[in-house]
Amino acid sequence: MKKQPLIIENLSKTYLQAHIGRKNKTRALRGVNLKLENNEIFSLIGLNGSGKTTAIKLILGLIHPDTGKVKIFGNPHFSSSSKRKTGYLPEMPYFSRNFSPVEILKFWGSLSDIPKDKLKKRIHAVLNYTSLTGAEHKKLNSFSRGMLQRLGLAQALLSDPELLILDEPMGGLDPRGIIEIRDHMKKLKERGKTIFFSSHIISEVEKVADRVAVLHKGKILKITEPHSRLEDEFLSIISEHEKNSK
Ligand SMILES: Nc1ncnc2c1ncn2[C@@H]1O[C@H](COP(=O)(O)OP(=O)(O)OP(=O)(O)O)[C@@H](O)[C@H]1O
Ligand SMILES: [Mg+2]
Repeated sequence: MKKQPLIIENLSKTYLQAHIGRKNKTRALRGVNLKLENNEIFSLIGLNGSGKTTAIKLILGLIHPDTGKVKIFGNPHFSSSSKRKTGYLPEMPYFSRNFSPVEILKFWGSLSDIPKDKLKKRIHAVLNYTSLTGAEHKKLNSFSRGMLQRLGLAQALLSDPELLILDEPMGGLDPRGIIEIRDHMKKLKERGKTIFFSSHIISEVEKVADRVAVLHKGKILKITEPHSRLEDEFLSIISEHEKNSK
């Protein structure tokens, strides 16, 4: 039987910041537990500052938790097997503007230890998949936000990972770009992939996700299935929580 793509147990994170002689504490994540099933599209929804990016950075091992652990396909998230099976689209993909998509992907592929003969084919496949063919040798300084987002997705897909972690994949995109990303996610699911993505565009989440977790002030308040009134449910879960915690 295939192992679960992602298991998160009791994950917590507090940021400490020095501020005019004092230390500020932000409890960004508080004891989060989650289990993803194979081949599902799972969305983490929450208001700005609810802890979505923090959760994603912890899952990827980019920052260290105060408590908790993360397993990817049965192995600790920091293991090389977990890293090989995971693709990541950051909230704001950053690329040096003096390079072209092919140059960026070649560099990324060599960092990810993709063999040279395979890398050429993969670059061709992901450029085609994200409709960047035709712009593959253009410098990124002429790229729109949507094209950069597509390059971010191409990079996340380069090693053909089983699990995709996408932080606000629809962020900053126009309606057509949003539809494209949604279609990509659906196609990736059809190809057997599992997707975990964060968003605060609830109307989009309900069109693509199989399950949704509501994150608020670092806590998962509810895991639910999408429906046409998800936005209302989301807002009422949050206001109910605020009322009860007064
Ligand atoms: N590096 C950091 N240092 C200090 N505080 C941080 C840091 N990163 C995030 N925070 C704080 O942690 C909390 C959660 O932030 P996070 O970026 O995880 O939220 P988010 O849900 O991704 O928000 P958004 O929807 O705006 O992307 C916020 O209060 C934020 O200000
Ligand atoms: Mg974020």
